[in-house]
Amino acid sequence: MKDMPNIQTTTKDPLLQPLTIRGLTLKNRVMSTSHASGMDDENMPALRYQRYHEEKAKGGLALTMFGGSSNIAPDSPSVFRQLNVATDDIIPHFQAFSERIHQHGTALMCQITHMGRRGDAQAAEWLPTIAPSAVREDLHRNFPREMDQYDIDRVVKAFGQAARRCVEGGLDGLETLAGAHLIGQFFSPMTNLRGDGFGGSIENRTRFALMVHEEIRRQVGDDFVVGMRLTLDEGEGGEYPKLCVWGLAHAVFTGHLLNRSGYRIAN
Ligand SMILES: Cc1cc2nc3c(=O)[nH]c(=O)nc-3n(C[C@H](O)[C@H](O)[C@H](O)COP(=O)(O)O)c2cc1C
Repeated sequence: MKDMPNIQTTTKDPLLQPLTIRGLTLKNRVMSTSHASGMDDENMPALRYQRYHEEKAKGGLALTMFGGSSNIAPDSPSVFRQLNVATDDIIPHFQAFSERIHQHGTALMCQITHMGRRGDAQAAEWLPTIAPSAVREDLHRNFPREMDQYDIDRVVKAFGQAARRCVEGGLDGLETLAGAHLIGQFFSPMTNLRGDGFGGSIENRTRFALMVHEEIRRQVGDDFVVGMRLTLDEGEGGEYPKLCVWGLAHAVFTGHLLNRSGYRIAN
């Protein structure tokens, strides 16, 4: 992070100690997690969006993650006022945002995602939703279209381009969102019924996430902080009740990413 004030602490409180992740030093351990604040202007983080996060920065937190569920492609439409990182139009907003937040010695990261079957075919461009398999989504009752190799390749590239926009916007890092979104839909045996190299074994169900994170790393270079927000256990009786395999899937996944894509934060 450029032009940050010197980080000095006189307290021994562990929460207030600096933390270095890759090339980024955070002044303490207090952060705000990503959420779609509804303060966007046509899916862009303009002045009021930035000022909302600036108030947190003034309060002294080390890192603000913004842009909950920011969409990386047109077939992941905004359904709850997310940011649109699928266009270079967002870069000047990111640049102004970074400058504003860095003045307070606070770092900022964006969360990026493709919602997959959680999108809505009736929203925005009216594009069919996509998913690893055509398992109906009960939120809006759409049947998603099963992704072919072309879809997989273009979505991987779109993640990389969104990541490039985060770098060009002067951000300090990004995280992808797995959870119930497209990356998580590949992880879950409830939504991934594929018989090809992207379904079945844990390694196969992790392949898409790994391709996404490798492409992100190619686009952002070595120093940028990249993480993932994921759900480890959606619980008995939850939406995906058989997810007791999550712990193991996560271990394999994390190992792969640590070794191969320079993944640094699990949230
Ligand atoms: C309105 C709203 C929107 C949210 N959107 C997202 C989101 O897009 N992505 C995400 O990972 N978490 C999202 N969250 C979850 C928050 O990041 C956070 O985990 C949650 O509010 C619990 O943290 P807290 O106890 O500090 O409030 C959202 C939360 C709220 C209240």
